[in-house]
Amino acid sequence: MSRRRGGNCPNSLEVMQQLVDLTQSKLSLDLICVLPERESMSTRFITQTLGSDVNCSCCIYRQHLVDPASCYVFKSRETGSRTIVNYNELPEMTFDEFKSSVEKLGSIEDTCFHFEIKPSALISVELENPHRLGLENLAAEADFVFYAKSWAQAFGYSSMEKCLEAQITVLPKAKYLCCTWGDKGAALLTRPENACISMPALAIPNAEVVDPIGAGDTFVAGMLFGILCYRDDWDQTRKLQFATELASLKVRQEGFQGLGSVVGHRIERR
Ligand SMILES: *[C@@H]1O[C@H](CO)[C@@H](O)[C@H](O)[C@H]1NC(C)=O
Repeated sequence: MSRRRGGNCPNSLEVMQQLVDLTQSKLSLDLICVLPERESMSTRFITQTLGSDVNCSCCIYRQHLVDPASCYVFKSRETGSRTIVNYNELPEMTFDEFKSSVEKLGSIEDTCFHFEIKPSALISVELENPHRLGLENLAAEADFVFYAKSWAQAFGYSSMEKCLEAQITVLPKAKYLCCTWGDKGAALLTRPENACISMPALAIPNAEVVDPIGAGDTFVAGMLFGILCYRDDWDQTRKLQFATELASLKVRQEGFQGLGSVVGHRIERR
């Protein structure tokens, strides 16, 4: 059994932190999520694994609760199948808690919220779990929208391009729409160009697949990094290629450590 910190946003932040460090980009990274009580072992474990450049001071700490939202992944040695059990005893974030966390951040000019919402800042949303209600409404307010294959398939799309071409018609604001599709790679549809490009994943031989968990979160980190730090320097194809390659390389290793340096040669230093 191995234990590691997870969470879509924390995973993306862990990878973005490496890229920001590597390029000395000016981007401060803050996490807003619900955690167990501040002094608990699990909260310490979570903040330590995120590293010192991800600021957790806007998180919401639940007194008297010591277990984080957890996900148990059982992998069958025989078939390779994965069974996932989610467990979370922490009450969800309320609107008021979210609001006061955002206020702690200070000015939100030039801020991008991934998942979170606030007018005049950029908003980025990931749609993964088809059973979570209200995601479409959230996406309609977003500037960047990420669709997971699981979401797209549950809504009847047979390919990443079909998902994006249909979804753009119901997203009035989105400028970047992405859809990931496992070993097929990812697609990007941008406004105002209205052009859909797709990028195959790097071919990783089965024998080299070590840990696919969090590949989608890594893709999000790569895209947000490209959009926020290299918006005009990289064309859309290059942004997509960077994120797709980063996610492919993640699959070959346990966890997220050291991913930045694996792709370091692809990025010009500032
Ligand atoms: C972390 O965020 C808080 C709230 O925005 C801020 O007061 C604090 O200075 C930040 N810490 C670091 C190390 O940047």
